[in-house]
Amino acid sequence: MSDPFADVDASSPDLIGIIATALEVRAADPDMLPVIDAYLDRLDPPDGSLIVDIGCGTGGVTRRIADRFGQALVIGVEPSIALTDKARALAGDRANLEFRVGDGAALDLADDSADIAILHTVLSHVADPAPLVAEAARLLRPSGTLVVCDADFSKAALGLGPGDPLGACAQAFVAGSVTDAWLAGKLKPLARAAGLAVDHFGTANRVVTDGMGNLVWVRMASARLVDEGVIGQSLADALEAEYLRRAEAGTLYGFLPFVTMIATKPVG
Ligand SMILES: C[S@@+](CC[C@H](N)C(=O)[O-])C[C@H]1O[C@@H](n2cnc3c(N)ncnc32)[C@H](O)[C@@H]1O
Repeated sequence: MSDPFADVDASSPDLIGIIATALEVRAADPDMLPVIDAYLDRLDPPDGSLIVDIGCGTGGVTRRIADRFGQALVIGVEPSIALTDKARALAGDRANLEFRVGDGAALDLADDSADIAILHTVLSHVADPAPLVAEAARLLRPSGTLVVCDADFSKAALGLGPGDPLGACAQAFVAGSVTDAWLAGKLKPLARAAGLAVDHFGTANRVVTDGMGNLVWVRMASARLVDEGVIGQSLADALEAEYLRRAEAGTLYGFLPFVTMIATKPVG
């Protein structure tokens, strides 16, 4: 089963649309913003800084970074041409924000050129995270900061009890749309292997009890299962309807821990 986030442009136009919508919904989700703001609060980029958001998707988080740090140039790098096009279309007139197409393992940026590098929910979607962390370390200036924020998908839950079909959707989403659900426990060793010093490692739970924040789990799980001939479109429609019913009734319970690691490139 291949994770569609590992090569977004290889997906069908419908699935790319689902992914783009889901990234925008999540980046603006009131349940997600405190997780993002908690690490932005820990950063203090000086005037003229360069911040690189690696694997920026449609740029929802990147726009928030650019708005928060107007004194910095923020570059979002994303391998998907479709998502980069979307990110550029949504960038508005922000003068300190640009988007480039690129692979996080081979960035077209000079050594020691960036003050801050951010990997927001990227590493859980790549087969080998080590080259991306090493590349981030390469482009950071000495005493520059790496932020990795990622989900601990091994603990993702959407069910209200045993056998709940929405619980199965969460499991099916993780099985089909996440490359390493157990990444969280590997982050500290990854940073150290890249020569970085870990300054902070913390967790925050995203709990979704209403709204569309976890609809992507149902949509992506259903789309894959329909595509594989496991279920029919009528069941996919019913699962989405059940999510919407619970959102309306206020009976949703989606749970996902996020891990944030902040690490520094040593001087000398
Ligand atoms: C779950 S999305 C997160 C997007 C964005 N950071 C956000 O939080 O809205 C994962 C992103 O990682 C990107 N990605 C996958 N492989 C990558 C690689 N080798 N280098 C950089 N980004 C990559 C995908 O294209 C996708 O946009």
